[in-house]
Amino acid sequence: MAEKKVIAVVGATGAQGGGLARAILTDADGGFAVRALTRNPDSDAARKLAARDLDVVRELNPRLQTFQRWLSENKDGFANV
Ligand SMILES: NC(=O)c1ccc[n+]([C@@H]2O[C@H](COP(=O)([O-])OP(=O)(O)OC[C@H]3O[C@@H](n4cnc5c(N)ncnc54)[C@H](OP(=O)(O)O)[C@@H]3O)[C@@H](O)[C@H]2O)c1
Repeated sequence: MAEKKVIAVVGATGAQGGGLARAILTDADGGFAVRALTRNPDSDAARKLAARDLDVVRELNPRLQTFQRWLSENKDGFANV
């Protein structure tokens, strides 16, 4: 099976980004995995994402430059904060 492309999601611990992250995760044949960027991987919301087998990554200050780096590495991204 082809390796999944990763979509980096800023705001995955929130309502909007969380909905996107769950939708991608539920679509097992979609060909995408989620990397959830959060300022606090110890929050309840981040722990719930990690429990669902999402890759939760800490970004203390996900500014534009950081997001651009993630985009260059992951090819796709979503930010709604
Ligand atoms: N909910 C709606 O129905 C709705 C509808 C239309 C538009 N919107 C807009 O969509 C945006 C998100 O809404 P939401 O309801 O999903 O908000 P939310 O549930 O409060 O979630 C906010 C998210 O943004 C992240 N975040 C907050 N400040 C950040 C910062 N400085 N840098 C990086 N990440 C930051 C938080 O991540 P961490 O705390 O984990 O880092 C969290 O995942 C808002 O601008 C809102 O006005 C919402």
